[in-house]
Amino acid sequence: MRKAVLFIVFMIYTASAFAQEAQAAKTFWDDPVNDPMFPIYLVTAFILLVIILVGVVALYLVKVVNMLMTETEKAKAAKLGIPYVVKPSLWNRFAQKMNASVPMEAEKDIELHHDYDGIKELDNHLPPWWKWLFYGTIAFSVVYIAIYHFSDTLPLQDQEYQQEVALAEEQARKLKAAQPQEEIDENALAFTNDPALIEKGKSVFNGNNCGACHRNDGGGNTIGPNLTDEYWLHGGDVKQVFSTIKNGVVEKGMPAWGKSMSPQDVRNVAFFIMSLQGSNPANAKAPQGELFKATAPAPTAASDSTNAQASL
Ligand code: HEC
Repeated sequence: MRKAVLFIVFMIYTASAFAQEAQAAKTFWDDPVNDPMFPIYLVTAFILLVIILVGVVALYLVKVVNMLMTETEKAKAAKLGIPYVVKPSLWNRFAQKMNASVPMEAEKDIELHHDYDGIKELDNHLPPWWKWLFYGTIAFSVVYIAIYHFSDTLPLQDQEYQQEVALAEEQARKLKAAQPQEEIDENALAFTNDPALIEKGKSVFNGNNCGACHRNDGGGNTIGPNLTDEYWLHGGDVKQVFSTIKNGVVEKGMPAWGKSMSPQDVRNVAFFIMSLQGSNPANAKAPQGELFKATAPAPTAASDSTNAQASL
């Protein structure tokens, strides 16, 4: 019995330890010996082993003591010349008390005088363990109602949920405050020839977002203008391009992407468009708007190429 309980406790313990580890990125079992928890697990396992061994030894000791006691009782009975009667064990007495079952010999006393074709009915009482469990639930319910519904000492499920949501929101707020989003100030925006950002911009541009109206290569189609030439309707400076994408030209069919895209995505896609300058795709749309001349093209280009090399 005791061994079984210990075994179950041990199983639950190892199972829960395993479940916790499984959630971590690197699990305990990947490298058990070097895991920081290893000494704790080892000591716990050792303690459990000791407890099991002590339990087994104690069980045997009790058995031996019992045997010796029975022997002395027997000898005593023989000396006195009376028959030896086996005393019920502690467990048997306890079980009898809990169940209060009526022995077969006494069943006559509790027989109800109902006879259904030879089948008789006994007036057995509910076993005390069951009755006390029942009274216990009644007592529990009184305490529960008093605590949860009258005194408001502990939160109900709904309140508990609200509290956790509030806590999570607070944590999210703190996390955001700790690592503020990169501010993109369009007035200070400068084009950097960063391949990673341009690649991200390209994946935003392709397909339904922009490619549908400007073609994936930016050459333009019947709807959207050519984005690869030097002619611009709304200005070809990166700040102006950023602002056109962010605010759109809604009345002309160019959506305002600032509403649905993060500032980072708008910047990346603006950088991608800048990188298309002069790419001259085949069958590109005829230029629209005015020829755009960058105010200081030479230094920007030079620093761009050094930037690109530095970042590689
Ligand atoms: C529904 C069609 C459509 C989609 C989708 C679209 N555009 Fe446009 N875009 C247009 C039209 C039309 C214009 C021209 C506006 C005008 O005539 O003033 C334009 C203009 C522009 C301009 C200004 C060009 C210039 O000459 O000044 C840029 C830059 C631009 N789009 C970028 C984008 C980007 C980036 C996306 C995707 C995030 C996008 N567009 C998605 C239709 C579209």
